[in-house]
Amino acid sequence: IPNLNTKQLGRTIDYYTTCESTQIIAADKAREGAPHGTVVIAEEQTDGRGRLDRSWNSTANKGIWMSVIIRPAISPQFAAQFTLVSAVAITQAIQEVTNLTPEIKWPNDILINGKKVTGILTELQADMDIVHSIIIGIGVNVNQELSAFEESIQKTATSLKIENGEEIDRSLLAAKILYYLEKYGDLYVENGFKPIKILWESHNCTIGKRIRATTLRETLEGVALGITNDGVLEIKLDSGEIRGVYSADIHLLGK
Ligand code: BTN
Repeated sequence: IPNLNTKQLGRTIDYYTTCESTQIIAADKAREGAPHGTVVIAEEQTDGRGRLDRSWNSTANKGIWMSVIIRPAISPQFAAQFTLVSAVAITQAIQEVTNLTPEIKWPNDILINGKKVTGILTELQADMDIVHSIIIGIGVNVNQELSAFEESIQKTATSLKIENGEEIDRSLLAAKILYYLEKYGDLYVENGFKPIKILWESHNCTIGKRIRATTLRETLEGVALGITNDGVLEIKLDSGEIRGVYSADIHLLGK
């Protein structure tokens, strides 16, 4: 990756023209002891994975499909916030490389004009009270044309090129993502969640909106009040009851 301006992230790179999933390769490498900051990146994935066991469409040569292995000195209970750290980092990078204004939908989808351009999948390798590694899988739709998206998802998914009409330098964007991931990752480890929370809130499009949250157990509808210091989303239900969700699929229902 030319333009790389990091201390450690991306200093070891494992590059594939095609592979099944960078996330699977990175998980194996992490178990084998790959150093902090190792990046597995591919031009194409034949079996890209999304959250909740979904597949992730990874068209050849059009996106950024990468998994970053980090080994932060934190305890496992603080690992989940790294998805929010990543969302902030990617938002910042997209904003700098394009002139678009991305928004974060809790917890970590990045939207442009209401459509998803980026997905983040984080996996934790830990034992009891120590984090061995966190694997941050990042998929950014960069240079796809509209025709790359099936008609059924054109209302909900997009690419940076579709939104700003110009081809984007993928390696420059990848370098910026790694730069901000390192910067905000270090900030989180050193200063805790507060500064990240402020950044996350300034880019988010969920708080204050009426939402439907589908968790593994139930569906909740109400107004998103905010996130806690643990990154938990608090929802005020119509009954007035306030509920916190750790993980869910969110639909924005408008005002
Ligand atoms: C989501 O469901 O929103 C998360 C999508 C994550 C996709 C990325 S692409 C690089 C890495 N490899 C995978 O198989 N998935 C992640």
